[in-house]
Amino acid sequence: MSPSFINFSSFKKDEINVLIDQAFDLKSRFYHNKLDLYKKVTNPATAALLFFEPSTRTRFSFETACVRAGIHPLVIDGLQGTSLEKGETFEDTILSLEAMRPLFFVVRAPDGFDMLEISKLVKTPILNAGWGKRSHPTQALLDAATLIEDWGSDLAGKRLLFLGDIKHSRVVQSHLELAQILGYHVGFCAPENFLPDFDQRTHTPIALFSNLKNGLEWADAVVALRIQKERHQEIDLDLQKYRETFGLNQESLKQFKTDGLILHPGPVNYGIEIEKSVTKDPRSRILQLVENGVFIRESLIRQILTGLNISGI
Ligand code: CP
Repeated sequence: MSPSFINFSSFKKDEINVLIDQAFDLKSRFYHNKLDLYKKVTNPATAALLFFEPSTRTRFSFETACVRAGIHPLVIDGLQGTSLEKGETFEDTILSLEAMRPLFFVVRAPDGFDMLEISKLVKTPILNAGWGKRSHPTQALLDAATLIEDWGSDLAGKRLLFLGDIKHSRVVQSHLELAQILGYHVGFCAPENFLPDFDQRTHTPIALFSNLKNGLEWADAVVALRIQKERHQEIDLDLQKYRETFGLNQESLKQFKTDGLILHPGPVNYGIEIEKSVTKDPRSRILQLVENGVFIRESLIRQILTGLNISGI
């Protein structure tokens, strides 16, 4: 595994499985009160969490995971109050922070921040916490872990339907990579103007649905996506029409198998992509995703520490 985690390009299936298994082990220990894991939280090691775009779940779960792994998270939350406001570049920001010797960076950044290039400038590992429209690999991992936890099997041959604003979804981009490693099938269900421009032939094969009923009948799990209004300058949006045609509600979910699972990475636009009542549907795993996000990120952090030959934290 490369020291940084920007995408899945250097991962093999057994490495993903180790990460997920370790996350389940951490979860089991956490809920069985074996908190001896956390007794050594006196270590002065730090991690630099740089969130240049808004976040609730990812930021808080990385912070929680750092604390549980015995590392003090130091957070930059937005550009405000940093020297980026004075025109300093992302590159100089990262180089300056690296001089203070955090064990690793966790970075959420817009497309314009070249995470891959910056990872070559620094020796400190960078963990991608959501990069513009490009990728969000830890979200894909925690989605996969949550499905595996429920189904009790690996995801080979399973069918994941992505519903909605696929064009702007970094989560989908990471799933296209992870699907090739774990062997699950990907479907897209969206109006034409929510579909991405990329050439599908360069990615994993994709089942396309313009009709929600057909998509739900095909799927083992449906991942509803937030309509990213902030990224929609170029799209003419009719939210009411979208809700009626592609929204998940008790009526549309009658077409979905009784043992199917409903995911949403959050935050949710209730009344657009999902009705609030769907969160009470026994097939919904929306909050379990958030719960598992901590364990997946802690597992990743512990892997990074092992790679850095740091033990005993
Ligand atoms: N799923 C996700 O990345 O949520 P946040 O933007 O709240 O971190």
